[in-house]
Parts: sequence; structure tokens; C-alpha cells
Amino acid sequence: MKSLLITGGAGFIGSHLVRFMVNKYPEYRIINLDKLTYAGNLENLRDVEEKKNYLFVKTDINDAEAVKKVFEEFDISGLIHLAAESHVDRSITNPTEFIYTNIVGTVNLLNAARHKWKDDMEDHLFYHVSTDEVYGSLGDTGLFTETTAYDPRSPYSASKASSDHLVRAYFHTFKLPVVISNCSNNYGGYQFPEKLIPLMIHNISNNKPLPVYGKGLNVRDWLYVEDHATAIDLIYHKGDHGETYNIGGNNEWRNIDLVKLLCKIMDEKLGRAAGTSEKLITYVTDRAGHDLRYAIDSSKLQNDLGWAPSLHFNEGLEKTVDWYLANEEWLNNVTSGDYQKYYDKMYEER
Ligand code: NAD
Ligand code: TYD
Repeated sequence: MKSLLITGGAGFIGSHLVRFMVNKYPEYRIINLDKLTYAGNLENLRDVEEKKNYLFVKTDINDAEAVKKVFEEFDISGLIHLAAESHVDRSITNPTEFIYTNIVGTVNLLNAARHKWKDDMEDHLFYHVSTDEVYGSLGDTGLFTETTAYDPRSPYSASKASSDHLVRAYFHTFKLPVVISNCSNNYGGYQFPEKLIPLMIHNISNNKPLPVYGKGLNVRDWLYVEDHATAIDLIYHKGDHGETYNIGGNNEWRNIDLVKLLCKIMDEKLGRAAGTSEKLITYVTDRAGHDLRYAIDSSKLQNDLGWAPSLHFNEGLEKTVDWYLANEEWLNNVTSGDYQKYYDKMYEER
């Protein structure tokens, strides 16, 4: 049985990927390595935890010895690395955590893989999951391609850029087989409600103000999380070693238009009069260094590997709203504990 290690598998994208891989490849043993930070939640994986080909190991990637031990204990054929601190606002309040987990944690995994796989390097793969934010910010036109120069501008994107560079350096220096993908903003169920879409859904449900940063004119390119999982699967199995693939949905939205669309969908779902939820929109102080626009050219992935996103945005967004409305208990659980403290502090400062 081949063992595939997925780091960060208890998080948003990771849990969708773990579920997808466990169900699609019963012949693989899927090992989910996660520290279970505030963003990691085993509740996200209740439906696969009993499967024979699934295993969870609670490990901190910042602990080099613990990471090495996982590689010693399991005969790992390949790794898909998603574990990270992932929220830009938190990287502005506390950059250091991002440096440890996103950079040092990645190096710990690279070192463990390099040493463990040294005799048959070519039979293995280190897949690093990254973000389009490493390319910086676009003006009104243009798209990020795989050759766009790196220009990260937040502590989060700088830490991810650094990890991308290190992964490439291990490919060139140590011949470690690697592949990297840089994806645009994901949305879907199981996303922690600090990110735009689940935060707005949660606040609309609870009749709380909808904090739109600045004038709401920043643009993001949204991809349904399950489409990200199919892209990762394809790249893991068919991508060329040493290559980078951009993943994106060709689906740009200004934040304010997206929030208004969410309000409209939620009014319908909650049986509220049209326009009710929009009244909750509150413009707040902009995020420091707020990148204006991200937009991805994913033609390399589409042409070389035949990937395409499956869902139209309206359909994906409606599915997502339905998921949060049906999973109120999940939302209540993840917003208990420290969440309210985080939220209040974040918005008090705006
Ligand atoms: P997330 O914050 O929901 O999940 C991150 C997971 O990593 C959590 O389960 C957490 O417990 C785990 N983790 C954090 N620190 C760890 C540590 N020290 N050791 C072990 N596990 C640790 O993040 P996400 O949105 O699912 O993003 C996953 C990956 O995809 C990240 O690498 C992120 O940079 C990248 N990415 C995210 C998006 C997006 O829109 N969310 C887009 C492109 C790329
Ligand atoms: P976010 O989901 O944090 O993703 P990222 O910053 O990685 O793109 O934010 C998406 C966009 O929404 C971004 O332009 C910031 C904005 N935003 C708000 O206007 N209000 C909010 O409460 C949040 C969390 C984000």
C-alpha cells in the first residue's frame, strides 16, 4: 500500500483533499498530519475517520524531530504539503508564527523527505501547495502566470513565497522531486469564519455588521474548494517534476459585489425581504497593505493536464451557503472558545 502524507489535512482545503483522496484511492493509505491549531478541526473529517485507508497523526511541523519520526515510522511515497498559517490579517498582527510554520515547518519536511528518500529519490514526490498571493498585487488588468516575478507584500505571502523558493532550491540542489501549485482564493464548506465568505455568511445569519475593508473595491479570483482538490490530484499524479502550476477559476469579483450577492442569496434562503441583509454592510478601515487585485491564468494546467473548474460561481456560492446553513452546529463549535475574542479585537481596531 502506498502511503500519501497530507499535511494540514484537518484545515479547510486539506480536509476536502483528504476526503477526496481517501474515497478515490482506497489503495493508498492517506496519513493526515496536523497540529490542530485554531484552524484545524477533526470534525471536518468525521465521514472518513473510520475508513481503513485513513490515519491521523497529531504533529507540529515546527518540531523537526517529530517530523523525522513520522517519516521513519511510515514508508511515505509522497507528500502534499498544506499545513500553514493561512490568514493575512493574523499575519499582520503576529508575523512571527507565520515565519515558523510556513518557512521553518516547510524546511523540516523538506529535510525529512530528502534524508528518508535519498536512495530512491525519483520514486517519491514532494508537492507544495501555495498561493497566488506570492505574485503580489495586480492593477486593473493582467493575470498572474507561472513566470510572473514574485512580489509578496504581506507577511503571509512573504512566508509562502519563501517556502516556494526553498522547495525549488531543494529540487535544484538536492534533486528532490517537487512540484508546486499556486492557487487563487478558495471557498466552500468547512472554511474557518475569519475568511471573507464564511465570515459574511455567519454574520448575515446572526444579523451582525458585515465589515467590508476600505471601499470594497479589491478583487479576488474565487475557486470552489473541490475544484482545487481535483487540480491537486491531477498535478500530483501527472505534473512534471520541478514545475509550477497556477490554479484559478477565472472568476474575479470585487469584494463589495460578492458581499451583495451573498446578501441576496441569504435573504432568499432565510425568507427575508429583499435588501434586508445588505443593510448590515459596514465599511471599515482598510487592511494594511491591502493587495488590490489577484487574478490567475491557469491555461498551463488546463492545456497540459486537461483540468477545468466544474462549478459556476452562483452554483458554488449557493451550495456553500446551503452548507453553512445546514451545519450550524459546526459553525457554533468553531466560533466558541477564542473566536469571539479574536473577532472583537480585530474589528475594534478598525
Ligand atoms: P487553514 O488555515 O484552513 O488550515 C491550515 C491547517 O494547517 C490547519 O488544519 C492547521 O491545524 C494546520 N497547521 C497549522 N500550523 C501547523 C503546524 N505547525 N504543524 C502542523 N499543522 C499545522 O488553511 P487552508 O485555507 O486550508 O490552506 C491550506 C494551504 O493552502 C495553505 O498552505 C495555504 O497557504 C494554501 N492556500 C490557501 C488558499 C485559500 O484560499 N484558503 C488559496 C491558495 C493556497
Ligand atoms: P480573505 O478571505 O482574508 O482572503 P485574502 O486576504 O487571502 O485574499 O479576504 C478576501 C478579501 O476580502 C480581501 O480583499 C479582504 C476582504 N475582507 C473584507 O473586506 N472583510 C473581512 O471581514 C475579511 C475577512 C476580508
